[in-house]
Amino acid sequence: MNFLVIGGAGFIGAYVTRTLLAQGHKVVVYDMSLAENTLGKVLSAEELEKITMVSGDVTDLAGLIRAIRENDIDSLVHLAYWQIPASNNNPHKAIEINALGFNNTLEAMASLNLKRLVWTSSNAVFGSPKYQPVTPLPNDAIQKPNLVYGALKSLNEFMAEHYYTHRGVDSIGVRLCLVYGYGRMRGASTFASDMIVNAALGEPCVIDNGDSEVDWYYVEDAAQLIAHALTAPTPPRRIYNANSDVQTVRHAAGMLAEMIPDTKLDVKEGALDANWDLDSSLMEEELGFKPKYSLDEGLKDFVYQVREKAGLEVIPGTESIRHYEN
Ligand SMILES: NC(=O)c1ccc[n+]([C@@H]2O[C@H](COP(=O)([O-])OP(=O)(O)OC[C@H]3O[C@@H](n4cnc5c(N)ncnc54)[C@H](O)[C@@H]3O)[C@@H](O)[C@H]2O)c1
Repeated sequence: MNFLVIGGAGFIGAYVTRTLLAQGHKVVVYDMSLAENTLGKVLSAEELEKITMVSGDVTDLAGLIRAIRENDIDSLVHLAYWQIPASNNNPHKAIEINALGFNNTLEAMASLNLKRLVWTSSNAVFGSPKYQPVTPLPNDAIQKPNLVYGALKSLNEFMAEHYYTHRGVDSIGVRLCLVYGYGRMRGASTFASDMIVNAALGEPCVIDNGDSEVDWYYVEDAAQLIAHALTAPTPPRRIYNANSDVQTVRHAAGMLAEMIPDTKLDVKEGALDANWDLDSSLMEEELGFKPKYSLDEGLKDFVYQVREKAGLEVIPGTESIRHYEN
């Protein structure tokens, strides 16, 4: 099949692109900033040659439709977004990209009658834990976003449902929380990936909010989830909670300290005002996907990747862990 990955040059997009290529699909990356990207960090030269790159802005509906038509695209992945703090600092621009941009994707789906859209929502739709008495949070928990980022994801979820009901657009959104892995560049939860990179390189690192119990979703699992959702039978819901391994930041730092001699991680007290513990049993039952990497395995693989790319010797106990053939 032919897939267009909007925002495909970013962190999750690079892994999705690599996974889809390995599964034998044609991948077109549509992204406004092809210069600074994760693709070159994750894909081999041979894999990079197989991709078609289109420099385009998702806020330009005509350009998006042209890229879809010219490349005979079947289905879309939408990842283009302004994250935190960018969306808080410039809400006007965030509305343009995160709300109007996502709506352009839905419009393109409807007017070109494409097969499937897969996109990434977030735990940020739920807001602060103080308004959520039940954990893990059910799929249909009340949404009370406390940031521009979460409010626009909430709007995106509403619009995806609207386009499904009124225009027949087949979409699946997955509410990811904290995705970690090699090559992450942006977003509030980049601190987790930075902590692991610094530990792997033996560099000092101060980590705030050590008491936050976050969901550790390894990027290899996130890419497989998105690839799986692209071709799965249409499930009953348009949006699914996605959780993997919920542990405190302090616990993860402790695991790194056991794995790597002489880590210099300074974990501070405090917790982020967000819900990370989501009940993803419906995703397993209805979409048929369950992540495979435990936090321990994700850390071992991530540390291995960092050391290998830096040309440093492998730390005993860390290793390349491949749970998927493709
Ligand atoms: N990384 C996480 O932990 C996480 C968790 C939950 C949800 N998400 C969501 O997943 C998606 C991807 O996240 P990521 O970490 O890969 O982000 P990223 O910032 O690394 O990638 C986003 C990509 O979108 C591109 N982009 C931004 N504005 C654009 C525009 N107007 N037109 C075209 N391209 C544009 C950027 O250039 C970038 O390459 C986002 O929607 C994010 O909100 C991420």
